[in-house]
Amino acid sequence: EKGGYDHFMLKEIYEQPRSVKDCLRGRIYPEQGLVQLGGIKEYTEKLKNLDRIIIVACGTSWHAGLVGEYLIEEYARIPVEVEYASEFRYRNPIISEKDLVIAISQSGETADTMAAIEMAKEKGATIFGVCNVVGASIPRTSHAGVYTHAGPEIGVASTKAFTAQVTVLTLIALYMAQQRGKISTSAMTSLLTELDHIPEKIQEALSSDSYIKEIAAKFKDSRNCLFLGRGSGFPVALEGALKLKEISYIHAEGYPAAEMKHGPIALIDEEMPVVFIATRNSSYEKVISNIQEVKARKGKVIAIVTEGDTEVRQMADYCIEIPASDEAFLPLLATIPLQLLSYHIAVMRGCNVDQPRNLAKSVTVE
Ligand code: F6R
Repeated sequence: EKGGYDHFMLKEIYEQPRSVKDCLRGRIYPEQGLVQLGGIKEYTEKLKNLDRIIIVACGTSWHAGLVGEYLIEEYARIPVEVEYASEFRYRNPIISEKDLVIAISQSGETADTMAAIEMAKEKGATIFGVCNVVGASIPRTSHAGVYTHAGPEIGVASTKAFTAQVTVLTLIALYMAQQRGKISTSAMTSLLTELDHIPEKIQEALSSDSYIKEIAAKFKDSRNCLFLGRGSGFPVALEGALKLKEISYIHAEGYPAAEMKHGPIALIDEEMPVVFIATRNSSYEKVISNIQEVKARKGKVIAIVTEGDTEVRQMADYCIEIPASDEAFLPLLATIPLQLLSYHIAVMRGCNVDQPRNLAKSVTVE
């Protein structure tokens, strides 16, 4: 059932071109510049009069929420707050009928996320669920929602569920932009045409696997690792760090690259691997200066770069290429090499990658 792969996690990483494609199927119409989301269609009027959106989730799903915040604010121009469900529910939050709460959950059963939406529902908010498991408690409690259709995820560490969540949030952001008249049809057409090709680009990103394995061999005995990114590369850095800690037990931290100088830079020495999301986008030049700061302190830099990059290559110790794309889709591509890096490091350390110690696939305790 692992389909020839050594672990479910690797199988699920490799399934992503297909799972993202399944997630897009029937929902995007590039020529017409149109997104269709049957699950939330009835709430179109509501979307026009929103004050704000609150995204609630835990763990990896919370990271997807941060990507969602970036995309919804960028395209639909609605203020978004992203909350850990476990914090949100316990602090008497201010919620009204003009709020939309989006709960993101692979399992659809996470106790804190469930409790958060029950509370928000009671206070009159509209609830959308972004879930993978059809018919689970969270989608049943939500008013409406969009399934991620990633298929069953067996590995405890979330991989294909995360990229499917990000795909759905991208669709929701563009759908809201369209409904609220914030985007032109031609801009939609060009974004959707590109989104339609993301599955192939994920396939291309997977082709760095054997090179990533070589990098993993160099860093498998590290005790710490930093992951840095800016903009939508920041949640990708958080997710890269979480993947590494949970399956390899190496201490890792994700940080906004510019925050490094406010503390974490003190950690950097010749022993410290620093993974940068350094693709060519609006924060490229800024990330380059952050890489220089790390190199000046003899840190080891592993950079995720856009295909054909030459500038970062002169500074970084290792460069992993991903295909060029619009900044909106960067998280879908930059996540792939980080999943593979964690996977190979964990396997080399003899860890049980599919079932890391102390973790459960579905967290139904509060
Ligand atoms: C990490 C991971 C967890 C889950 C979290 C939320 O790889 O899988 O952090 O993301 O427990 O679970 P769901 O999405 O099922 O609510």
